[in-house]
Amino acid sequence: MDMAPLIDPFARPIRYLRVSVTDRCDFRCTYCMAEHMTFLPKADLLTLEELDRLCSGFIGLGVRKLRVTGGEPLVRRGILSFFQAMGRHLQSGALEELTLTTNGSQLARFAGDLAGCGVRRVNVSLDTLDPAKFAEITRWGRLPQVLEGIAAAKAAGLRVKINAVALKGFNEVELFGLVDWCAAEGHDLTFIEVMPMGDMEDRLAQYWPLSDLRARLAERFTLTDLAERTGGPARYLRLEETGQKIGLITPLTHNFCESCNRVRLTCTGELFPCLGQEQATDLRAPLRASADPAVLEDAIRAAIAKKPKGHDFDYSRQRVAGQMTRHMSHTGG
Ligand code: GTP
Ligand code: 5AD
Ligand code: SF4
Repeated sequence: MDMAPLIDPFARPIRYLRVSVTDRCDFRCTYCMAEHMTFLPKADLLTLEELDRLCSGFIGLGVRKLRVTGGEPLVRRGILSFFQAMGRHLQSGALEELTLTTNGSQLARFAGDLAGCGVRRVNVSLDTLDPAKFAEITRWGRLPQVLEGIAAAKAAGLRVKINAVALKGFNEVELFGLVDWCAAEGHDLTFIEVMPMGDMEDRLAQYWPLSDLRARLAERFTLTDLAERTGGPARYLRLEETGQKIGLITPLTHNFCESCNRVRLTCTGELFPCLGQEQATDLRAPLRASADPAVLEDAIRAAIAKKPKGHDFDYSRQRVAGQMTRHMSHTGG
């Protein structure tokens, strides 16, 4: 079965849905959340059945890749039943990939079951391998728990991609440490430029352009740019000496909006057609108003028709532009 894809106003086919299943998290990463967050009342959340109806609606309209995010998706009660439910779309062939982005804290408990649902890959956020720095950046996180989770994922046969936000003066000194550890463990590794979202501490001071990170890599390795894409925003390069693949996600130094294929659904049923813009469409009202899939389908099409061209993040001229007050945890990155 291959549905005609949803097409946005800039002729981009939408094949990738990111679903934030909760705004809660057991960590408080400084670039993502405030230490004291006010979370949504539970009554505002879509039930897991409603999330199923929504995601199945998108899959019926040609979405082929579903990424479950949060907050921390694995802290949502009953989340495994949602993965099991989405697994049926893998079995039917409607969905090509079911995956998640997680902080890893609950992976030791969930990895085996996730693999059983048809998950093949997980993206784990990990910015440092230094326990003290890990506690500093995540405020509430503890490194050994995450390393244990990552080990459990590997043991369950899941491919692991480490996502590290590149932070000036923070993990710069660990560039080769992270690269070497991922090589030894057989994990993929992607670096992300810090985006101006949520409570702004000094993002400009934190910003480490990946053009610079790349130049540092080139001091030790021979780099080959790869054409391959996973359907996500990363561009990949290979380190010839180790054969490792490194992903770079560069919203600031190299805008990739032109090839954007994704939209984001929040745990209350808002559809954000762009991570870097405020506008959203409420899908919860049409979902609750009618059991007729055609009503939801119309609402989804109308929302996609409003997808903007791209974000306006910009740190050039030594100031922050395109800033979003929304926290990253709201839309799940
Ligand atoms: P794969 O390529 O399948 O591994 O996934 P991915 O890179 O799409 O997913 P992941 O959750 O690992 O995304 C990594 C981060 O990239 C996100 O958390 C965001 O910070 C950033 N990102 C993903 N999509 C976008 C986007 O459309 N715009 C911007 N500006 N950043 C994005
Ligand atoms: N800029 C870039 N990446 C961020 N993430 C969270 N907040 C930001 C930000 N302000 C990343 C996390 C995780 C993913 C979901 O988004 O580290 O890998
Ligand atoms: Fe939680 Fe991820 Fe945000 Fe950190 S980046 S606070 S782990 S949602």
